[in-house]
Amino acid sequence: MDKREATKRIQQLTELINEHNHRYYIESKPVISDYEFDMLMEELIRLEKEFPEFADPNSPTKRVGGDITKEFRQVQHRYPMLSLSNTYSEQELTDFDTRVRKAIGDNFTYVCELKYDGVSISLHYLNGRLERAVTRGDGTQGDDVTTNIKTIRTIPLKLKGNYPDDFEIRGEIFMPKEGFARFNQERIENGEEPFANPRNAASGSIKMQHSAEVARRPLDCYLYFVLGDNLPFGNHYDNLQKARDWGFNVPRYIAKCNNLDEVFEFIKSWEKERTQLPFEIDGVVIKVNDYSQQEELDTTAKSPRWAIAYKFKAERVATKLNAISFQVGRTGAITPVANLEPVRLAGTTVKRASLHNADIIATLDVRIGDTVFVEKGGEIIPKIVAVDFTKRSENAPEFQFISNCPECGTELVRREGEALHYCPNEDGCPPQIKGRIQHFISRNAMDIDSLGEGKVEMLYDNGLINNAADLYYLTYDDLLGLEKTIDATEDKKEKKLSFKEKTVNNILNGIEQSKRQPFDKVLYALGIRYAGQTVAKKLAIHYRNIDHLKKVTYEELILVDEIGERIAQSVVDYFNDPRHVKMIERLREKGVQMELTDAFEILSDKLAEKTIVASGKLEHFSREGIKTVIQQHGGRPSSSVSKITDYLLAGENTGPNKLARAKELNIPIITEEEFLKMIE
Ligand code: IVH
Repeated sequence: MDKREATKRIQQLTELINEHNHRYYIESKPVISDYEFDMLMEELIRLEKEFPEFADPNSPTKRVGGDITKEFRQVQHRYPMLSLSNTYSEQELTDFDTRVRKAIGDNFTYVCELKYDGVSISLHYLNGRLERAVTRGDGTQGDDVTTNIKTIRTIPLKLKGNYPDDFEIRGEIFMPKEGFARFNQERIENGEEPFANPRNAASGSIKMQHSAEVARRPLDCYLYFVLGDNLPFGNHYDNLQKARDWGFNVPRYIAKCNNLDEVFEFIKSWEKERTQLPFEIDGVVIKVNDYSQQEELDTTAKSPRWAIAYKFKAERVATKLNAISFQVGRTGAITPVANLEPVRLAGTTVKRASLHNADIIATLDVRIGDTVFVEKGGEIIPKIVAVDFTKRSENAPEFQFISNCPECGTELVRREGEALHYCPNEDGCPPQIKGRIQHFISRNAMDIDSLGEGKVEMLYDNGLINNAADLYYLTYDDLLGLEKTIDATEDKKEKKLSFKEKTVNNILNGIEQSKRQPFDKVLYALGIRYAGQTVAKKLAIHYRNIDHLKKVTYEELILVDEIGERIAQSVVDYFNDPRHVKMIERLREKGVQMELTDAFEILSDKLAEKTIVASGKLEHFSREGIKTVIQQHGGRPSSSVSKITDYLLAGENTGPNKLARAKELNIPIITEEEFLKMIE
């Protein structure tokens, strides 16, 4: 490569990597695999080495990654959060071992761990209490996400045992596979875009503004690194094991290895077993155990020389695309699904893969009969990543997206700016009708668990229900003896399912119980497009009852915090439809909650993002009570005055130290009356 070509390629790679970095870190929507990304990075590193005169001081190879997001307070890391150098090759791992031996001799131990695929977090503990949780950010400073992190149940807020006074512990926040599948399914049902993989779901979750929503996300955290001046042991392994006694979730997938052969054994066994784990991993991390040896080996600007990550390649196979079928969701959204020649991939047999929408089909240029490459990286649902054009038959016609609904025949529509096609036949398209009722009864909505998919189908097929309100008009006689023939696929015999007295009573009871569900759940259950649980709660708090909400205009709605144009339009459209208004009236007639009652746990967001220290004796609140009230209004109660405190709520006999500290830091000191006014 000559100089001219090199500058051009360096520039091209820089732009590409910056773009992918942004998609990955900021938008949480990567479009290439980790492997492809790392290959680009490797090429750039190589070229910059070869042509140092063209290396840009702002090159993506110089930073650890991640722009700084504005919403959260920026916090400087006490110890920089370095990254690990990565490799996909056994040879490079052997080279790493050689370098280590050259520097510290042969008398050392490795520790092998899994490389958890999530987002890293640094937790600071002071006197046994979680003081602060900070994301990696750019490696020197990150976002203070303490409030969100506190919702993760496996992260201790108070430690046990004999812990150091002041230390940091680092780990990975992740969403386990099962929770991810459930959570994504809910998003699809709500008409929201699903996350591409558990890692994006985890990083999206901890960056959310509302901790109540974070608390609903099935997040977990594994700790893998302890830092501090007064740690009990002089090595990584023992401190990590000890941290378990302090209450930390320290993974047991860890091994001490005496040589490279043992390291390879660990890698090989997890490369095979990884599919059995309940969470995603993308490789293995190898660390030199002893701290003094780590010090000897030292770090580069970006990563320690005493550790390396061996990454697994995303498994990819080729198979034939037999057909593309289409599913109709409850919102009428049409999802294309690839039907594949069954093939083994990462421990399971893959028959289907998601194709998302018409644009993706067009971009990939997939055609029926093509040989396609299917990959399962971080994702649970495999995806088609490319077509093997060399195997395409000459006369394979371009794939035409359907123009009519596969279920009811209605002509499909595609609104401007939207990726999906929709079937507009809301009232006559069976999967839409059944889907809406299924959503209505689901756990996070009306929670009628005595009904399930099969029973809803039976009721619909027998002409007993056509919308959610019909459920509340069902009678004992309607249900008793209701029959359905089901295909028993195993023995090929048909089976008859018939409702007996007990089932009928169960169903009716469940429906009756659901009348106690609070208004925000009812609002969510209605299935207004783009109104997921958070939006429903927001609307319920703001408007308090359905009559207010029915009358609200688009202009008013977009002024509500977090209600964007798309949601506002959807809410207005929903209530402008007389069919919806009629259904709501029928639900109200039967006693379904159409207003917020006082027992509701979240009262407002008037203290959103405000950290408040309450001290001394208060007239209206107990010590615990005031904390709850602060939280109910979206604030963060805290017990010590620091730079991050927004107000000191000073009651009778407030400690002089707290008052002095607040004055020193210029933090407003408020009275109980002033506080009450704030949340009025
Ligand atoms: S140790 C200085 N151990 O991989 C080394 N990291 O590219 C600190 N990761 O930012 C990291 N599993 O998010 C370490 N067992 C493990 C890990 C692990 C996942 C992540 C972590 C880190 C990234 C390094």
